[in-house]
Amino acid sequence: MLEVVNPATEEVLRRLEPASEEEANRAVARANEAFPKWSAVAPDERARMLRRLAAALDDEQEGLALLESRNTGKPISDARAEMGMVAETFHYYAAAPERLLGDTIPVPGGVTMTFREPLGVVGLIVPWNFPLTIASWKMAPALAAGNTLVLKPAEITPLTALEFERIALEAGIPEGVINVVVGPGSTVGQTLAEHPDVAKIAFTGSTGVGKGIMSAAAGTIKRVTLELGGKSANVVFADADLEAAAASAPFAVFENAGQDCCARSRILVERGVYDEFLSYLKESVEALRVGDPMSEDTQIGPLISAEHREKVASFVPEGAPVAAQGSAPGGKGFWFAPTVLSPVSISDRAAREEIFGPVAVVIPFEGEEEALRLANDTIYGLSGSIWTRDGARAMRMARGIDSGVLSINSNTSVRVSTPFGGFKQSGVGRELGPHALEQYSEPKSVYFKTEED
Ligand code: TAP
Repeated sequence: MLEVVNPATEEVLRRLEPASEEEANRAVARANEAFPKWSAVAPDERARMLRRLAAALDDEQEGLALLESRNTGKPISDARAEMGMVAETFHYYAAAPERLLGDTIPVPGGVTMTFREPLGVVGLIVPWNFPLTIASWKMAPALAAGNTLVLKPAEITPLTALEFERIALEAGIPEGVINVVVGPGSTVGQTLAEHPDVAKIAFTGSTGVGKGIMSAAAGTIKRVTLELGGKSANVVFADADLEAAAASAPFAVFENAGQDCCARSRILVERGVYDEFLSYLKESVEALRVGDPMSEDTQIGPLISAEHREKVASFVPEGAPVAAQGSAPGGKGFWFAPTVLSPVSISDRAAREEIFGPVAVVIPFEGEEEALRLANDTIYGLSGSIWTRDGARAMRMARGIDSGVLSINSNTSVRVSTPFGGFKQSGVGRELGPHALEQYSEPKSVYFKTEED
């Protein structure tokens, strides 16, 4: 029996029988059966259905936020913002069915028309850190483009996905179009990745599992999009607004208790202002409010599990160079105090591996060239920030960093209308924005012969 636990209290929220491989096969069969009808729904009608679903998500936002907060331990204010984004994602893609346009291309002897065709059944596999948000980034464009889907949430955070399934049915999305299967990745996830009737896998999770999915999907040449790990840089030049950079740096890495693929966990600071920056940073880290996720002013909650806390703790062994540390409650819950390590070398384990917890490293650099070299010295390339008052330098750095999403004088990276995804081992393909629609549909060229040979 699967026990779904609140990581802030260790209380069991729900007991579920995990799905078997047979259940995963049955979900694919249901989605396959629903596909011809769903893909044939006229664009204006499909848009109306998605608008109704988006409106229902607006109405259910508070209930979903409470559930997400209890299941993940994230602060209620963060959960509310995330559930707002879930609804916003459906509002955004509800406009898409009527805008999936093709081209007409004059060619010798006639004209070629292009259409965007849905793929069929898509398998969506998501992690535990932003459970419903990440699922919505996949479900909304997949449905808008005319696909049916099987969603596999992480076993430890399935509650909002199950609620979503109910909300979608009540909002009028036909049976079989959305199928949620709660079961282990090694069986249910693997079944989806290998299944001959699944046309595409959209996966978010660790780089290691992503590699396995890519090879499992090769057997049937599935379309694959992967959103994987990160080890992003937060580059602070001496001419930056240091106070602003230091005040925002903790949220850039410790938000969601650092369990964020976009976490800017390598803070690179120009040597001339290293001491000054570190003292500002220390102040901001010590002021972080870590505690009860249900409290309105909490900024950081617990880690997802005891096992994950052990992994995070291994990056702060006895004698580690702790330059700043926040607080964490004692007692029940998987708490971990936000920690800044410095001085650290770029070759240290804490500077190379994705920690996925509230641990940041600060590394000094000398000039633009070294900043760029250090920023790119990683197998990942998901996000990053550049802090400087020199606009031309900011642009040179932004063009030079091998990363899918960057911000200048800011730490925010994700917007519904702009593409999101990684370079290098951070992934393949993009989510959000118009790009996502392309990844849930295939272009088809139809040649219409109008002239005699
Ligand atoms: P994973 O262990 O990779 O799990 C992600 C999902 O894959 C879960 O639903 C998991 O199921 C499933 N899974 C595990 N083994 C599988 C297999 N062999 N075949 C198919 N599915 C399988 O990652 P995690 O620990 O949940 O999440 C943390 C990682 O996700 C971090 O590396 C983080 O960077 C990455 N992440 C990336 C992004 C983006 S957008 N790039 C966003 C969030 C997280 P079960 O857990 O239920 O077994």
